[in-house]
Amino acid sequence: MPAPQYVSFFVCKKCGYTESIYSAKLKRIICPRCGSPLSIEKRDREWHPRGYGLIRYVSMLAIKPRRSLGEGSTPAVSEENSSFKIVYKLEYLNPTGSFKDRGALTALSYVAESLSTRHILEDSSGNAGISVATYARLYRYKATIIVPKHAPIGKKKFIKMLGAEVVEAPTRDDATKIALDILNRKNCFYVDHLSNPLFIEGIKTIAYELYEQIGVPDAILVPFGSGGLLLGIYYGFKELLDLKIIDKIPHLVAVQSTANPPLYERIYGSIHSYENSTLADGLLVKNPPRIEEAVDALQATNGFVVLVNSSEIIHALKELLDKGFIVEPTSATVYAAFSKIHDKLRDKGCKEVVIILTGSGLKMIDYIASIVTIGIS
Ligand SMILES: Cc1ncc(COP(=O)(O)O)c(C=O)c1O
Ligand SMILES: [Zn+2]
Repeated sequence: MPAPQYVSFFVCKKCGYTESIYSAKLKRIICPRCGSPLSIEKRDREWHPRGYGLIRYVSMLAIKPRRSLGEGSTPAVSEENSSFKIVYKLEYLNPTGSFKDRGALTALSYVAESLSTRHILEDSSGNAGISVATYARLYRYKATIIVPKHAPIGKKKFIKMLGAEVVEAPTRDDATKIALDILNRKNCFYVDHLSNPLFIEGIKTIAYELYEQIGVPDAILVPFGSGGLLLGIYYGFKELLDLKIIDKIPHLVAVQSTANPPLYERIYGSIHSYENSTLADGLLVKNPPRIEEAVDALQATNGFVVLVNSSEIIHALKELLDKGFIVEPTSATVYAAFSKIHDKLRDKGCKEVVIILTGSGLKMIDYIASIVTIGIS
């Protein structure tokens, strides 16, 4: 039998570890030698878009997606004001109501091809948990999802309804500790979307879609929790640039809340006005494992970080409802940020700006109703 021809590899940029993604057999996708986050190198990447949704870009991906739910092909809705053409990318219209479906599809597709386990483990503040639980159910895997106590009730109910085992942790960081403890004791695959490059692999398709829908915009505003969304969009455009399909990459603008601004602080130093709020619950990642990669991506695209507070987020949420976009508070952060940086964007010569709307408000409608009618956070 001839040896299989591998073309996609996990690569550790720190220690040089390189292994075919299908022979590595990793139950958590970090470097088995030094523990760093891994990157993916695909040696036969080609631009041959064909078909609908995420699977349209299979020639660009290191993973062959299993059964798909039609993720991707999300609308790009335009609006013009006196200064900008704004394009809203409606990622909240994915099958489970968030962009996480793109990453969950590619991450879980790996399991059947590569591992013996059929038990999926994940820690999440909600959306990633819902997405992983949905694909686990579709593929007939068992799922255990660790969620912080502060996660919205609607999201926790949703995960349970999907048949996953739900374990509650006091904080987001404790959720990760519990997941690691289970991984040590049981034969399971830990999705670990905060650092998993297979997850980012799926998210790259947002960049490919934007390119096909509108070309290369001047700037893209992205909410930043772990940075998977920002890095996916960055690598997607970077690959199109490397393949000489485009000749520039948009400025990337990362948006964080004053409740948890690690990327902002890493670049500009500490802030004085922290807020104790779980309003933008998807952004409460204290130590994003790929923070240095995110700093590099912002530098490479001449981008920057913007902070928003709770009252700005609530105001933005209401304005988005006025436009017909029913999103969750975490997603409204980007619109709040946009209204604060018009001058900065103009100074950079930006005319066309993309706002990624990441998560649906329908998963937490009672909470959103209480925020927009009586204003509690
Ligand atoms: C709705 C929503 N937007 C944005 C984010 C942040 O994404 P990332 O962790 O990839 O930076 C999350 C993460 O949970 C989310 O749920
Ligand atoms: Zn390493």
